Amino acid sequence: MSKRTLVTSALPYANGPIHLGHLAGAYLPADLYVRYKRLTDEDVIHICGSDEHGVPITIAAEKKGVSPQDIVDTFHEQNKQIFEDFGIDFDYYGRTSSSTHHKTSQEFFTKLYEDGVFVQKTEEQLYDPEAEMFLPDRYVRGTCPNCGYEDAYGDQCESCGTSLSPTELIDPKSAITGDTPETKKTTHWYLPLGDFQERLEKWLDTRENWKPNVAGQVKSWLNDGLKDRAVTRDLTWGVPVPLDDAEGKVLYVWFDAPIGYISATKEWAEQQEDPERWKTYWQDEDTDLIHFIGKDNIVFHCIMFPATLMAHGDYVLPKNVPANEFLNLEGKKLSTSRGWAVWLDEYLEDFEPDLLRYVLGTILPETKDSDFSWEYFQNKVNSELADVLGNFVYRTTSFTENYFDGTVPELTNPTDKDRETLAQITAQKEKISTAYEEFKLREAISETMNLARIGNKYFTEMEPWQTRKDDRETCGNTLHVCLQITAALSILFDPILPNKMAELRDELNIADKPDWGEVSDSILDSGSSINKGAILFEKIEDEVVEEQLQKLRDRANEQTEEPDHEPIKENMQFEDFMKMDLRAGKIVSASHIENANKLLKLEVDLGFEQRTIVSGISNDFDPEKVVGQNVCVVANLAPKKLMGIESNGMILMAEEEDGALKFVETDAKPGSPIT
Ligand code: MF3
Ligand code: ZN
Repeated sequence: MSKRTLVTSALPYANGPIHLGHLAGAYLPADLYVRYKRLTDEDVIHICGSDEHGVPITIAAEKKGVSPQDIVDTFHEQNKQIFEDFGIDFDYYGRTSSSTHHKTSQEFFTKLYEDGVFVQKTEEQLYDPEAEMFLPDRYVRGTCPNCGYEDAYGDQCESCGTSLSPTELIDPKSAITGDTPETKKTTHWYLPLGDFQERLEKWLDTRENWKPNVAGQVKSWLNDGLKDRAVTRDLTWGVPVPLDDAEGKVLYVWFDAPIGYISATKEWAEQQEDPERWKTYWQDEDTDLIHFIGKDNIVFHCIMFPATLMAHGDYVLPKNVPANEFLNLEGKKLSTSRGWAVWLDEYLEDFEPDLLRYVLGTILPETKDSDFSWEYFQNKVNSELADVLGNFVYRTTSFTENYFDGTVPELTNPTDKDRETLAQITAQKEKISTAYEEFKLREAISETMNLARIGNKYFTEMEPWQTRKDDRETCGNTLHVCLQITAALSILFDPILPNKMAELRDELNIADKPDWGEVSDSILDSGSSINKGAILFEKIEDEVVEEQLQKLRDRANEQTEEPDHEPIKENMQFEDFMKMDLRAGKIVSASHIENANKLLKLEVDLGFEQRTIVSGISNDFDPEKVVGQNVCVVANLAPKKLMGIESNGMILMAEEEDGALKFVETDAKPGSPIT
């Protein structure tokens, strides 16, 4: 066994709130595993944090009309808090905008650069002339060359998981303008994954107990042969490339983000006032590095990041990557944009965390996609948490309180059945431990519940409500056995139901700090006292489930109902309106612009001067047709270069329902102010 375990959970993008899909993919399984490990007294830390770079952040910011910094600041705090409220107990929750991270990822890049690992290439990349930017990653969508999925991103197909380059997409479209991009030359640094193929294969051969879904995906990429992958991007948001000739370039988010695990561990060590300690977790052979992720992250954690770590040379490589498949919701694919999701903050307004921890734990998509439904939630809470675990604990403790003065009875002359039942405690404990060690968390949960089932069944069969009248010794033995099982459950269930089990241990007057090693058939001393607690789990009524379903439906409808008119924009102040200088004008000449199929170059007479204005009206108007046209012009719009031509102003157009453009006309003499 290794000396220590370093568990990481995929750094969620700080571009939106956490929902059930996130939890089921990485955070809940990781937390279950880590909580189990902590109980066994092993040295384990759990590292996570916000992924604050990359196109997902800038696109979210653009959609909301705020800065990327605003987006990440908001969601970093929010997500950190909600994980805590739900009991996902990270040792450290970092963020990739931290200075430690910028420094760490730049040092990584520099080391690999200086060691000559990267290949520098100048190549044609997709470019959106209207937006005046290159289109890396999610800025471009198109058909996946691997599986034909029509909405694949420029860096990855979410349907088949293949990692892509924008230029590989069939029929690419800019995510900003919807136009077919052009190409333009740019220089980038590539990690030549092909050079690492053999080493990766050798290393992967030594990995044990990998889940078939993960091993299978990795194999298929290796079979296809690994290609060079760019580790830099032409973007303004991200970690700047630490080279002199790399103005306007940042590290690719999938290069910097996994290094975020290292940066966060450094910050954790500093917080521990043992700043060098991160090294034992990342650089000492005796560490088991485990990455919990969702399946769309497999290629990055099993190929790219390991290759990066190998190239560096000083780091341990992952021992296992127990990636999960996807969680569906009420039989449909989860979709945040379509409002088809359950967000964790909303859940916590209505229910306690432990309920979802248990229920979601029983349907983790470990080997294939699984489905969460509110009816299933209700069923599991009512028939297992309430009827089995809650009922067993309540009958046992209240019976003890009522008929044994709240004192644990002696075990005297136990029968075979008593002994066999007691023996189930350690038998189940073994099964549960093995399941956790093998990342079979669903199995760990069901085997834990099985111990409660065993106890509940035994209680019913022993009929202590009968024996208490005529056979006090048997009745005492029954309660002794049930109390020992209850005590064992209060520890064995702790990773899954941390809040409820803390309450239960409190009732049983057993140590604050639960210890897996102490789980046995004699946790409670005979003669020690216990209290009857409250009912641990209340049943969920049908109306409550219906409310949740209604909430889901309402939101999905809100999102999909197309309004029959363009929504009116937010109010603006009169002063803001007055800043705009609108003038009457007349188009005096017009021509096409090479390579820009939407744009026309216009010369516009403003009476006192003539302006060049580039306008996106070429789909609707031939140049010859617009000469002599009266127009309204925004005359004080800051100049902007489009396709190399400086545009000085904007022509006002009205857009009809079907997208047809019409001029906003005026008879006024060119130059007249429009007020
Ligand atoms: N932000 C990524 C996602 O949500 C995961 C990043 S994991 C890391 O898919 F390793 F890069 F940090
Ligand atoms: Zn695909």
